[in-house]
Amino acid sequence: MIREEQTTIGFHVWGAEKLSEEKLTVLRLDNDGITYAMAVTEEGYLLHVYYGKRCGDDDLTYLLHLDEGNYTPQHHNRERMGFMDSRPFEYPCHGIGDFREPCFMILDGDGMSACDLRYKSHRIVSGKPELKQKGVSCIPATFAKEDEAETLIITMEDEHAGLTAELSYTIFRDRNVITRAVKVYNRGYGDVRLQRVLSACVELPGMDYEMITLNGNWARECAVSRVPLHAGKQLTDSLRGVSSAQHNPFMALCTPGTDEEHGEVYAFHLVYSGNFLAEAEVTGGKQTRTVIGINPYDFSWLLRPEEEFQTPEAVLVYSEEGLGGMSRMFHDLYRSHLIRSYWKDRERPILINNWEATYFNFDQDKLYAIAEEASKLGIEMLVMDDGWFGCRNFDDNSLGDWVVNEEKLKGGLKPLTDRINALGMKFGIWFEPEMVSDNSELYRAHPEWAIQIIGRDLTQARAQYVLDYSNAEVRDYVYGMLTNILNSANIEYVKWDMNRALTEVGSTSLPRKRQRELWHRYVLGVYDLMNRLTTDYPKLLLENCSSGGGRFDPAMLYFSPQIWASDDTDAIERLKIQYGTSYCYPVSAMGAHVSDCPNHLLGRNTPFDTRGDVALVGTFGYELDVTKIPAEDRAKIPGQVAKYHRFHKLMSDGDQYRLGNLFKDNTYDAWMFVSKDKSEALLTYVQVLGKPSEPAKRLYLRGLDADRKYFCEETGQTLSGKTLAACGIDVGLRGDFVSKTFYFKAEEA
Ligand code: DGJ
Repeated sequence: MIREEQTTIGFHVWGAEKLSEEKLTVLRLDNDGITYAMAVTEEGYLLHVYYGKRCGDDDLTYLLHLDEGNYTPQHHNRERMGFMDSRPFEYPCHGIGDFREPCFMILDGDGMSACDLRYKSHRIVSGKPELKQKGVSCIPATFAKEDEAETLIITMEDEHAGLTAELSYTIFRDRNVITRAVKVYNRGYGDVRLQRVLSACVELPGMDYEMITLNGNWARECAVSRVPLHAGKQLTDSLRGVSSAQHNPFMALCTPGTDEEHGEVYAFHLVYSGNFLAEAEVTGGKQTRTVIGINPYDFSWLLRPEEEFQTPEAVLVYSEEGLGGMSRMFHDLYRSHLIRSYWKDRERPILINNWEATYFNFDQDKLYAIAEEASKLGIEMLVMDDGWFGCRNFDDNSLGDWVVNEEKLKGGLKPLTDRINALGMKFGIWFEPEMVSDNSELYRAHPEWAIQIIGRDLTQARAQYVLDYSNAEVRDYVYGMLTNILNSANIEYVKWDMNRALTEVGSTSLPRKRQRELWHRYVLGVYDLMNRLTTDYPKLLLENCSSGGGRFDPAMLYFSPQIWASDDTDAIERLKIQYGTSYCYPVSAMGAHVSDCPNHLLGRNTPFDTRGDVALVGTFGYELDVTKIPAEDRAKIPGQVAKYHRFHKLMSDGDQYRLGNLFKDNTYDAWMFVSKDKSEALLTYVQVLGKPSEPAKRLYLRGLDADRKYFCEETGQTLSGKTLAACGIDVGLRGDFVSKTFYFKAEEA
């Protein structure tokens, strides 16, 4: 519920005899789990009052301490700066006395950067309006029906600069979630440059928090880092043009001691795929300001009169049930209110991808042989990865030439897909639509279509450049090639890859004044094409990928219900990657495959069963040449396929509980999925390193109904949820890298 209340604070101004008063308008968003409150002063300053656990219907403005310190400006302007620099603001502006991290900064026609957004009005609407900007086809964001959420839109104005900013706050009815975004209009007569337009700021009391971020690199995505806050600024960000494998657009602050079940967590996630910034700033030991949004570094957006700019959305999740509670909140939100694919609630086909099976060395017979064998084992889709187009036999050419290489695939795609379909299998294909190889017909014909700075050498990565997706002509041309391929055969899945970051960021099609907009315009161009693709092919299963999990972000989830989590397919390395990824993303979104051993990256050998159990916590598939793997491994595939079919619904719709943490204890990992009605659960245990003379590992189960009895298929025991939580079960195994699953079924009431 969103409501408005009026209140008055009385106080003494230094030297003045009589009592002064400040009238405040309080704006409050509540549901059963959370409260978010702010207050507008008589001069239109929008102050942050409270965010966190649901509190009583009291007047919360005492938290502002406006009656102390003589700082209410309209009564005592000589101390306005003290007010600006100490109070918690909802959307702090640069240059007017608040010296902490601002959300908003401009460059006006006079070359001035100060700005001052003040409250003018607000409105409340049911549901959640789409994020829109004139001329932009699609801005990914969460969605909600009229009865699932309410939105508060606060209009702020900077009279001097002629700017209006609409701050929107959506509260979801049944979730501890608030989403925020900002839309700026130029209603003046002159041009203004937006130098910084962040999506949200939340001020938290004190500094006693730990900051959690997800960091990594190629093949090491989403490693969890957790450090206590210190005075000053600490941040996570990307300057690569993609959200990046190095840092996910996620930051959480938690109270010390927070674990999987206990403790308060304030999490922030940006629905964005480009340069982002998430920062916490501790000032004076008294207050922590958190901000999140498009990275202002090298960002500048020209806003002409009557133009508008819409920021991406920030998702704020609050949990008082620790990190597990935070993750389950993200999972539920994203499954129901972000992923919009036809496939979001449907069982995904078990796929076999030929990348690690063949790399570039394949033809239609090899692919068919893999598919034929796979189909006998119950695998449902063949995905043809990189190497089917142009003259691509290695990674240094042909990106952008999306025409079938008929030396490999005679007669084009149709003969192959028809044969694969005749096996009862679906067919999927790989593209890297944002790229052009140095050695390609497209680059020879249109060198100006690459992102570049004219006169400078272009930095290659994997011998390729990034196409200028801010240019609609480029997007149309690429889309034409993609649709030619998609229309040429029965293609039901696309893996959309993206294998390099942006350098020499300049566009031959943008005017000089708009060059710094390219970072963001590029991202909007990608969204435009993904939107077109998923609109024109509504049943297409789209899987995002960026050298693995290099663009695993909520905006990509909006288009694709699954994202390839990492090129590291080693089951043991995957434990950490999938653990970190599960902080924000549901397993139904996590691309995970069983690959061959020794693992191609690490050279490590792991049992086929373990590889299966680890890939099961994801979209599940295979990344190997099924005609060549050992017969005993192949023989296990039908069992794994059956396991996926049996447990897929429980895992993709259920609640996830992490019982292990390899970042703390590298000897084991374990997790559980419990159905929403708590009638069944699946526990997986992976023993990374066996140890002699030690008791079996005891795991304490979570999420079960304390009062119901559960039969465990593997142990044959029937125990209450209460006992399973309090006393646990012993899951000792012999060996390294071994795994076991335990299925629990509640007795009928
Ligand atoms: C990077 C992806 O992450 C891999 O799965 C594979 O598709 C290669 N690109 C192909 O070039």
